[in-house]
Amino acid sequence: MIDGRSMVLQLEARRAAGAPRGDLLSGAVQLVEAAEDTYDWVGIYLLQGYDLVLHDYVGAATEHTRIAVGQGVCGTAVAEDRDINVPDVRAIENYIACSVGTVSELVVLIRSPATGKVVGQLDLDSDRPAAFGERDEIELKIVADWLGGLF
Ligand code: SME
Repeated sequence: MIDGRSMVLQLEARRAAGAPRGDLLSGAVQLVEAAEDTYDWVGIYLLQGYDLVLHDYVGAATEHTRIAVGQGVCGTAVAEDRDINVPDVRAIENYIACSVGTVSELVVLIRSPATGKVVGQLDLDSDRPAAFGERDEIELKIVADWLGGLF
């Protein structure tokens, strides 16, 4: 079961050992993906200007390595400055399909604690409907908040 605090402790140890930010972001992707069988694709996009740029991911390769703010679930989360949990992506018009198998998606924003501004996001896809619940949102926010502190 996903445990945000335990992941943060592991990441914190790696930071103390000198791991650079890029490695910590990639490590977070790997830890999150391994946490639940229902997480079929996990990635981190970083905000660069008006684009979200894929930093790293675990799961099927995607051609959507750059997503404009406002586009898809990922870009909408930034445009509307909120996390988005989509139980069934087939019901969404503004959806960018990365994998034909994806049915539900969760985007958790990563914010700089200094400014509160969005610097990126954790993006999770699942092949199951409504795979993400309140617990996933809470635990992933713990991870996202820690990652925000790297910026
Ligand atoms: N589905 C996302 C695009 C990213 S992929 O899921 C990896 C979206 O609609 O923004």
